[in-house]
Amino acid sequence: MNVRDEFIKYFVKNGHKQIPSAPIVPENDPTVLFNTAGMQPLVPYLMGEKHPYGNRLCDYQKCVRLTDLDEIGDKTHHTFFEMLGNWSLGDYFKKESINYSFEFLTKVLNIPLERLAVTVFAGDDKIPLDEATASYWKSHGISEDRIAYLGRDNNFWIAGDSGPCGGDTEIFYFRSNDEIPKKFDPNDERWVEIWNNVFMEFYQDKDGNITELKQKNVDTGMGLERIVAVLEGTDDNYKTSIWSDVIHKLEDISNLSYEGNEKAMRIIADHIRTSVFISADPASIKPSNTDQGYILRRLIRRYIRQARKLGIDINSDFDLELALIIMDKYEKYYSELKDNRDAVLEVLSLEKKKFARTLEKGLREFEKLVGNDTKIIGKDVAFKLYDTYGFPIELTLEEAKDRGMIVDVDGFYDKFREHQEKSRTASKGKFKGGLSGDGEIETKYHTATHLLNAALKKVIGPSVHQLGSNITPERLRFDFPCDHKMTDDEKKKVEDLVNEWIKEDLSVQKLEMSKDEAIKSGAECTFIDRYPDIVTVYKIGDVSMELCGGPHVSHTGELGEFKIKKEESSSAGVRRIKAILK
Ligand code: ALA
Repeated sequence: MNVRDEFIKYFVKNGHKQIPSAPIVPENDPTVLFNTAGMQPLVPYLMGEKHPYGNRLCDYQKCVRLTDLDEIGDKTHHTFFEMLGNWSLGDYFKKESINYSFEFLTKVLNIPLERLAVTVFAGDDKIPLDEATASYWKSHGISEDRIAYLGRDNNFWIAGDSGPCGGDTEIFYFRSNDEIPKKFDPNDERWVEIWNNVFMEFYQDKDGNITELKQKNVDTGMGLERIVAVLEGTDDNYKTSIWSDVIHKLEDISNLSYEGNEKAMRIIADHIRTSVFISADPASIKPSNTDQGYILRRLIRRYIRQARKLGIDINSDFDLELALIIMDKYEKYYSELKDNRDAVLEVLSLEKKKFARTLEKGLREFEKLVGNDTKIIGKDVAFKLYDTYGFPIELTLEEAKDRGMIVDVDGFYDKFREHQEKSRTASKGKFKGGLSGDGEIETKYHTATHLLNAALKKVIGPSVHQLGSNITPERLRFDFPCDHKMTDDEKKKVEDLVNEWIKEDLSVQKLEMSKDEAIKSGAECTFIDRYPDIVTVYKIGDVSMELCGGPHVSHTGELGEFKIKKEESSSAGVRRIKAILK
């Protein structure tokens, strides 16, 4: 069964007009790099503008999400994916939306009722519990045991921090041969979310104020890769019919089997598909050091590196062969793949040629420079790899991770900045895109990282310190030693502490002192031996003091609201937190 075609057929039969997928690079919104959800191109219409196709729409939308770039390689994450969606723009609301979803799942896809469960918005101080939604589900035979009521974190949907939004209901499928438990537990991983129906009746502004929209809308999203995996009875998206031809080709080219080489093959498959779609987009993105071009460059370079790991000759046309399979398969649905075929092949092969030389030379030097017995790659080595051998810091980080080493990233950036000032040649754009960047948002994340470190010390204990840190414009990531999975209570305490410190609007002071003085005053530093005699210390009120090159905000009040999005294991005895500022 072709789920995409069945989905469109079903909703068209029920009075919806199919709209074409919008380009992945948004046409009128410079604030985001890529469309991340089906509703994004529809924002003006959710706000009340008339849509030329009417008020019942459906489509499959190309989406790119980059927040979890380092999770690609597991069974379920993708940088590019397709979202099936249907919309009511001020037409039907909760009842019909639930009817349609239920009928499509149970009658068209033939999913048995007993494998389904749902979550419903539990309400909060601003919006009441969504009883209506629960009662509609019950009318279809979903029992109270199979309904979980969850709060704003789970059952309220908004793209970013402002825009049309509302409570939602998420549909889950029991994917396991185990006996299906009577009671639904949304934290039990055998239940996977397959569809999200958002009842968009509110507008949230940047300050978090909520007002009613002119009309009540429905916005739904179902990840195509996920639902296909469910229907084909696998928990590995890359084992579905969506990927089988690409994976087989990869097995062929590398002479290796998927089993045992899953991670590298998944990254290559995922990144090539995304690179194909980005370079085929009407926005004509080319690899560069900024914005979408930078992402494209990173994806291409990353799959090349993975290919090399599998022993594939990276100077061969392995990438073009895979790109052709992908374009052949998708061009029926996305005509730009047909129109821009040659351009895509040229982009991929030019970038590969550029990178192949750097990579070979850089890796050789990497082996020589880092030696065998070191656990830490110091700032001088990291900088030399970058400066002399054109080895981007991301690559040094990835190579280090594979070998269980850590990199003095902060030290690297100090050197980088020093060098930049000296040569006065680097453009701001290049710095921002090519490396971690020190734009406004990254600066905030730097400061938030210090607050997080301090809060963890209070909540978990004084043994917490920074083992790794990484900042993108979307989030911060922080690794620290800890022997247990953090409890919800611990996470909440950490969030509350950080938010308290933000509210107190503490001043952030930059101090210069001798290294000895810094150590005596208890300043925090992971790589103390690697620092010069005079060091920079950032002091935040009385809560944090850390050796660091900065940059930082001047007052914590600038940070907004701090939120932990994920807490997971990074390696044995090391936990990883991903957090955002809203
Ligand atoms: N916009 C909703 C989502 O992306 C449907 O989950």
